[in-house]
Amino acid sequence: MYRIAALHMKVFSSPFSARGEESVYYTAVPWKIRLSPNPFYDRDIVSIKDFSKDDLEFIFDTTDKVSSLKPSERGELGKGRALGYIFYEPSTRTRMSFEAAMASLGGSSIGISDLKSSSVEKGESLADTIRIIDLYSDVIVLRHPLDGSSRFAAELSQNPIINAGSGSEEHPTQALLDLYTILKVKKKIDGLSIAIVGDLKYGRTVYSLLYGLTNYDVDVHLVSPPSLQIRKESIYEVQGKLNIKEHSELEDGVLTDADVIYVTRIQRERFPDLQEYEKVRGTYTIDENTLAKAKPDVAVMHPLPRVDEISQAVDHTKNATYFKQASYGKELRAALLALMLNENLPE
Ligand code: CP
Repeated sequence: MYRIAALHMKVFSSPFSARGEESVYYTAVPWKIRLSPNPFYDRDIVSIKDFSKDDLEFIFDTTDKVSSLKPSERGELGKGRALGYIFYEPSTRTRMSFEAAMASLGGSSIGISDLKSSSVEKGESLADTIRIIDLYSDVIVLRHPLDGSSRFAAELSQNPIINAGSGSEEHPTQALLDLYTILKVKKKIDGLSIAIVGDLKYGRTVYSLLYGLTNYDVDVHLVSPPSLQIRKESIYEVQGKLNIKEHSELEDGVLTDADVIYVTRIQRERFPDLQEYEKVRGTYTIDENTLAKAKPDVAVMHPLPRVDEISQAVDHTKNATYFKQASYGKELRAALLALMLNENLPE
């Protein structure tokens, strides 16, 4: 299933959102007669670039609403529905949070996380594998090492595809939960200064986050070793939409300016030459000395897993936001699944 949902986004606003008061949806018709369905119903989630600011705010409002439902109400939103997944690369958070989210909606999950126990091991193609998962489930979560894999799968499947990481290209639901976390912790996104630190070349969460941030008025510091700078084509895409400064050191000026430090792991598995990895491993470590130079309320985020980029001493500070971020991942994914599976959510 691949369709462009942008056509009907402009006339829709969240029934959960105070911002909805300005919309055609609320002002022109009684709420039960919808001018436009939920824009995420049956929709693929392939790239964060497909989301407008209204879309993002709608998802964040829905996440608040779904999180506040009683378990019995929440358990109706996915009742009798199945999430199918396949992870061609390892995952802890994304897979488990989708499973936990689906269970909280009253649904079930079936999937493959160990390729060796699947027919991929016998040579079954991605296309055939997706066609089969499509037969058994209502929504499909895919992680794959190739850029473009989720868009390819979306063209094949009848049911919607969620990109859970496509090569070093994108990880859109990670960006949604990252933005949601910033909003919850900082109470706003506009006006913030965000430092993104680490492997900016191969880290797919970085690209989705940057594209998502283009919807906001933010300053961005990109901090990486020269060999791991952001890919130029992405800089061109966000140029003019973000105020970006690039650095090779985590300078004091960055630390004193940043409201959020978003740390990323150096993606060892994506280096064509491991000697190159050895040259940059451990380049940056956020520790108590780093925090001493930063704003007292700086939020330290990380998509996780971490290796050595954040000292464990930081875990016990008020700045450590990465476990909260992982927790919001379940809530945001539950809201997203509820939207994708239900044309109309209950008031
Ligand atoms: N953040 C993230 O994608 O984590 P996993 O690789 O554990 O799913």
